[in-house]
Amino acid sequence: MCGIFGIAAFNEPRTRDQVIKTLVDALQLLEYRGYDSAGIAVDYKDTNLVYKTVGEVSRLRELSQSTAPVAQRADGEVTIDTDLNERLQNYTGIAHTRWATHGTPSVVNSHPVPSSPTGDFLVVHNGIITNHEALRAELEASGHVFTGDTDTETIAKLFQHYYGQMCHRDGEPEFMSLTTAVMARLSGQYAILVKSSHYPDQLIAVKHKSPLVLGLSFPEDGSGKNKEYTAASLDPFDSQSTLSSSNATPQGAEDTAASDTPGPQTTTGEVVLQTTAAVGTRVACPSRATYYFSSDVVALTPFTTHTTYLEDGDVVAILPGGTFSLSHVSQRRMHELRVAMGFQDPADPLPPATPAPTRKFTQLALSVDEIKKGSHRTFMEKEIFEQPGAAQSALFSRVDSNQRRIRLGGIAEHMDELLQCRRVFLVGCGTSYHAGMMAETVIERLCGYSVTSVLASHFIDCLPHVGPGDMCVFISQSGSTADTIAALEYANKCDALTVGIVNTVGSSIYRQTDCGVHINAGYEASVCSTKAYTCQCVSLLMIALCIHFEQRLRQNQPVSDLYDEIFDGIITLPDALSEALDESKHIHEIAKKISAASSCLVLGRGFSYSVAREGALKIKEVSYIHAEGIAAGELKHGTLALVCDDIPLVFVAPCDRYMPKMQNAVAQCTARRTDKAKDGVVIITDDTAWVSAGFKSVIKTPRVHEMVQPLVSCVPLQLLALYLCEERGFDVDKPRNLAKSVTVE
Ligand code: F6R
Repeated sequence: MCGIFGIAAFNEPRTRDQVIKTLVDALQLLEYRGYDSAGIAVDYKDTNLVYKTVGEVSRLRELSQSTAPVAQRADGEVTIDTDLNERLQNYTGIAHTRWATHGTPSVVNSHPVPSSPTGDFLVVHNGIITNHEALRAELEASGHVFTGDTDTETIAKLFQHYYGQMCHRDGEPEFMSLTTAVMARLSGQYAILVKSSHYPDQLIAVKHKSPLVLGLSFPEDGSGKNKEYTAASLDPFDSQSTLSSSNATPQGAEDTAASDTPGPQTTTGEVVLQTTAAVGTRVACPSRATYYFSSDVVALTPFTTHTTYLEDGDVVAILPGGTFSLSHVSQRRMHELRVAMGFQDPADPLPPATPAPTRKFTQLALSVDEIKKGSHRTFMEKEIFEQPGAAQSALFSRVDSNQRRIRLGGIAEHMDELLQCRRVFLVGCGTSYHAGMMAETVIERLCGYSVTSVLASHFIDCLPHVGPGDMCVFISQSGSTADTIAALEYANKCDALTVGIVNTVGSSIYRQTDCGVHINAGYEASVCSTKAYTCQCVSLLMIALCIHFEQRLRQNQPVSDLYDEIFDGIITLPDALSEALDESKHIHEIAKKISAASSCLVLGRGFSYSVAREGALKIKEVSYIHAEGIAAGELKHGTLALVCDDIPLVFVAPCDRYMPKMQNAVAQCTARRTDKAKDGVVIITDDTAWVSAGFKSVIKTPRVHEMVQPLVSCVPLQLLALYLCEERGFDVDKPRNLAKSVTVE
């Protein structure tokens, strides 16, 4: 996880203090990606000023706002006489918020990671370098001294190492050439930003399997947003450089798409940058331009509206004067580089040539208001209460009430293939996996497929036999979860039909699937997913309805009764969710009574089993109460041994076909408690009979169709988790050790 952010501005003067504030503000928006430490680097004379701190971005803000700053410079913590009000004409800055993978959260392991005590190269990185141990050993043998434990330090040291070698042999290399040499040595996944005192006013951005978005802002037209930009002059990117055959010092190792199918190389004429950027071109900057890089579009929202998602292998160089260069280093090109550098056997098979697509700059749909808490205390609270509107957005323009059908543009073109499928795998992690569990039976009953929900990590561990005729559905709020992407890549390789259910438009899963549905939940900031879960479930149910309708249409058959019931269920869902939220005060009171527990069990069966699992995940994630979601039918096969007065029990017991069996489960548990049906037994239900039966902690939900009911039953559990967390005094939006976007396996 980790979040990275960068800025490079030309002829757009700001004080150093303002640049620092921009970096810190952006980091605050990326903090959901990790909050173990934070750091920034900005230009300072002919070097860089680096601030780093363990803990949250707010601490970094305090540190950087101090009037007599004690700065953690690359060469140690010193008080320096910086003029924060100095006006910078051109500047670059990088920033990082960390979720620790290698090395404990400490200042030395915080990013930006310097390459040397004087910080010649500074790197911020999101991802994991899987060969970092071998690289570290190699670099140490060459005399480099490591100061921290991060895999990122090997990237910084590689820059230092190849800079020395290339300078020694051929004079100072271009920053881009140096970068591709470093890339050729890295395995794993990385989005990196690099700035260097050797390359003032330059910034390098590289994306390989970790997300990275580029934003542009050209403010000269007043609005700065929508004006078409005509390049003042254009140079085709130089792709003629030769490769060195000596090992370890690549010369001119820069790459364009030229060795694959080149992107449209523009030699004369105009480029409308807001629309497309041709891979393999250099474009001179207009009189004033600011470039932004971010792990997530959310941090670009306050600064620009025009963004593009970079592809794996993309390298963007912001060059002196603001020239913008976008090149693509394909796997094939990387292979050639490694062979030339002596790190790849020339006999190894060459990866196939791949086309280098043109990058499209699109207008951001997100508004600044959406990324604020508004009147709510926390993002989790805001997002729980946004669910009726979010469900409405998921349904919006897809429900054709006249014809009583669902129209999903994202899968329409693939309908023939969808109808030919026999098996469906619903793949996701955590909450997204639970959404798959929730929809499993509905899809099976409505569409007649054999449906299995699978954890993405399990899918890649077991590599099930999938192929043509199988539909693999990848469910992900962020669209960038590493396990889910790895499972998707496997399914694509096996030629299964891949379908994405994502919230983040333009994300990796969106781009790598054959077709899909955007869940339209809106921006979800809280690490704990709530409204995205609801919209994922709604989207899966809509897919089931859409396919059923099409099946029946092609058979000249009317839709089934179940179709009608579920159709009615989902169109009334927004109202049902609102009604469920009305119980919030009562749920808060219940939370107060059970907040001291160290463990709790959530039980459900049939359609409610996925709710029990999801509810338990919410509770443990934010309140740190150990919680288990149990299939009530399994109670007597082990879990009953845990039942005692100290452990609150939460039963998800709607009035569905499983009700009599749930009553048995409740009776078997209460028989083993001395408080019988008192405070420690919570019942979530649409049936008032539980109150008549003497249960005190009954949370009432509205009644919808039994297969849609899980969506309504989940709301009280989300609220219970929220209030348990608050009662226990934790920060609900930043559960310890977690990050929202899990971009490492
Ligand atoms: C729990 C939670 C996580 C995510 C999981 C997958 O509240 O948010 O379990 O559901 O990390 O993330 P996405 O959906 O982004 O793939």
